[in-house]
Amino acid sequence: MRKPIVVGNWKLNGTEAANEELVSGVLSEMNALAAIDVAVCPPFVYVPQVVGLAKGTALGVGGQNCSEQSSGAFTGEVAPAMLSDVGARYVILGHSERRALYGETDEIVSEKVKAALHAGLTPILCVGETLEEREADETEAVVRQQLAAVIAGNGIKAFDRMVIAYEPVWAIGTGRTASPEQAQQVHAFIRGQLESHDAQVAQSVRIQYGGSVKPGNAAELFGQPDIDGGLIGGASLMAEDFLGICRAAADTVGNQ
Ligand code: PGA
Repeated sequence: MRKPIVVGNWKLNGTEAANEELVSGVLSEMNALAAIDVAVCPPFVYVPQVVGLAKGTALGVGGQNCSEQSSGAFTGEVAPAMLSDVGARYVILGHSERRALYGETDEIVSEKVKAALHAGLTPILCVGETLEEREADETEAVVRQQLAAVIAGNGIKAFDRMVIAYEPVWAIGTGRTASPEQAQQVHAFIRGQLESHDAQVAQSVRIQYGGSVKPGNAAELFGQPDIDGGLIGGASLMAEDFLGICRAAADTVGNQ
């Protein structure tokens, strides 16, 4: 049985005051969420603040990206070891916004995964197709290639120390969620891809769904056999919405 994991991707949002309010709201229910892993990923500058707020609780903290470099003349970059140094445990890598807006290729994402693992972080590897690719029936080919690059660069066993997030690009921030069946189909495909390399890794890796998850649609998504929680953007910015999604994930534990 895989422990569900729900992660908030705050994207480019937050102030010290808003973060404090949001995190204290989330922490007010952490005790009831022991059956799942919960984490939030603020912008880099707020990671230490949020680590401080979450100290002594089960709430994990992560970055939304990191450099594939560990130090040196790379202006504007943040090394994965710096994230671990300030107390982060996770890092989102290969988010579709990074791929589309900042030119991150499958190979760069694979290098970032390697660097993050080396620094002791748990990468949350995002994969997913655009609307154009889905309509051209290329979803599986795209996801296969995104995974293959990371497997080639890091080996299949690396997935024992990672989380995967399937995020159809057309469902991110659009209010248009993949149906539970559409999501399950790709999640099963992802697990199948890993299985062809290592059955044990495929069975134990957690695969989150991301893309317009809300309290109202979380339960049916998380009820699918290969969906192990969610990566949440917009709905992670309101404690009550994020908690509603966390509760839906916790409710699946023991029901399967
Ligand atoms: P969304 O974003 O929940 O706002 O669709 C998800 C994500 O980009 O991780």
